[in-house]
Parts: sequence; structure tokens; C-alpha cells
Amino acid sequence: MTKTMLVTGASKGIGQATVERFWAGANDIDTFVLLARSSTEFDELRAHLAANNPGGKRFFHHEIDLNDLDAIRDLLPQIIAEAGRVDYLVNNAGFTAPSPIHEVRFEDFERTINVNLYAPFVITQGLLHAGNRFEFILNVASTAGINGRSGWLTYSASKAAMIAMSQVMKEELSIYGTRVVTISPGRCATALRRTLAPDEDPSTIMQPEDVAGVIEMLASDFGRFVDSQNLVVRL
Ligand SMILES: NC(=O)c1ccc[n+]([C@@H]2O[C@H](COP(=O)([O-])OP(=O)(O)OC[C@H]3O[C@@H](n4cnc5c(N)ncnc54)[C@H](OP(=O)(O)O)[C@@H]3O)[C@@H](O)[C@H]2O)c1
Repeated sequence: MTKTMLVTGASKGIGQATVERFWAGANDIDTFVLLARSSTEFDELRAHLAANNPGGKRFFHHEIDLNDLDAIRDLLPQIIAEAGRVDYLVNNAGFTAPSPIHEVRFEDFERTINVNLYAPFVITQGLLHAGNRFEFILNVASTAGINGRSGWLTYSASKAAMIAMSQVMKEELSIYGTRVVTISPGRCATALRRTLAPDEDPSTIMQPEDVAGVIEMLASDFGRFVDSQNLVVRL
């Protein structure tokens, strides 16, 4: 039976690399649901997928701001209607607005928690409520959630919470045979990383394709032999 994969933050960085890898790879996924806000990169990704589709796979895309939790709730029935179900869920989208504690704007903190923590929860719980049984959920946390760094208060807090939430999902959803895997990437050359470290040379750090390769392995049959509580992925 063919499978469906939903990827949040599909337009750029690790999410985009993951979609491209699974799209081109030999696997049982033939339907992709891609979520991100409207952008040139998102347009280009969809054009690339449409032009490189020897396997006859299909994708649905939705331009959505994951800061808007009601919009997510409204979208989920549509996803079920078009895709049937979601077997593989990649909670990848992430946001950060680094700032020292004195200057943290509360609305930025709320947006960070909404996108990085509440959106993955709302998507996962909403699909469960719709009767969806996942085969595999991959939650993207961060090494910033293991060790806080100066200026990263809101981001580190959101990722620490993601690690904890993911552990509970792993325990609770095992009764359905769902594998829940958390990865905590280190420095990876993406737009988000540029926000955190604008002076860094991106060619010296891990690339999004490297993380996508790890995700592919974890989603494969071999992935079930890896203790997936919280895997650090770094160069
Ligand atoms: N890069 C690193 O060094 C690193 C390290 C550890 C963990 N991570 C994590 O890896 C994940 C992917 O990030 P990345 O590094 O690949 O960064 P990226 O290239 O900036 O991609 C972030 C993705 O999240 C989406 N996103 C952000 N805010 C959104 C919103 N409000 N609504 C919908 N989508 C939104 C973006 O889409 P649009 O902005 O186009 O909507 C984009 O597709 C994140 O969870 C990040 O925290 C990254």
C-alpha cells in the first residue's frame, strides 16, 4: 500500500531537502502534503517536483501561517479529504527571533511557541481526533533545546518543550504502532541559522541535505533499530 507524508516548513532548508529526498527516493510514499507560507521558494519547489516526477507521485500544498492555530484546525479536514490519511508526519517548521532577555517581545515569544510547539501539537492531535493512525512522526527539535544559549531564550524554551512533548508522544502513540522520533540538529546552513548566526560561513557547517538523509534513514525499516528518544544530528 502506498503512503502519504506531510511536511511542515516544506518551502526551505531542512523541510525542502526532506521533501526532495523522499520525492526522488525509492520508498512507498506516493502522496505529499506540503505546508508553508507563500514564498518564491515554495513556488520553485512545487515547480521542481512537477518537472521531476518519473514515479507519478502527487502532492498537495497549502499556504498557511502556522502561527494561526485556528487556521491549522480548519485545514486538517481538507488534508484528510484530499490525501486520505497521513502515514508519515514531519513536524519541521521552525521560527526564531533571537533577543536578549531584556528585549524579548512577548509577541515574538508567543509566535515562537505557536510555530515550534503548539502547531506540531495541533496537527498531531487534530489528525488523531480524525481517526488518523500515524506510522511515523518525526519532530525536529534542536541542540538549542538541550543547552540554552545566550540570546536564544525563546527558541531554546520552545525546543526543550518539543523534546519533552515528543517523549510523551512516543510513549502514548506506541499502542498504535506509531514510531515517534525526535531529532536535534546542530548548526545547519539554512535561513533560520543565518538569523541565529549571521556572520557564520554556511559552507563550513552541516547542510540541509545531510539532515534529510538522516531523516530518510530514520523513516526506513532500519530506523526502527535506532533508539529515537532525541537524536543529535550534527557535523
Ligand atoms: N538550521 C539549523 O541550524 C537548525 C538547527 C537545529 C534545529 N533546526 C530546526 O530545523 C527546522 C527547519 O528549519 P531550517 O533550519 O530548515 O530553517 P528554514 O530554512 O528557515 O526553514 C524554516 C521553515 O519553517 C517554515 N516556517 C517558519 N515560520 C512559519 C510559519 N509561521 N508558518 C508556516 N511555516 C513557517 C518556513 O516557511 P516560510 O517561512 O516560507 O513560511 C520554512 O519552510 C526548524 O524547526 C528549526 O528550528 C534548525
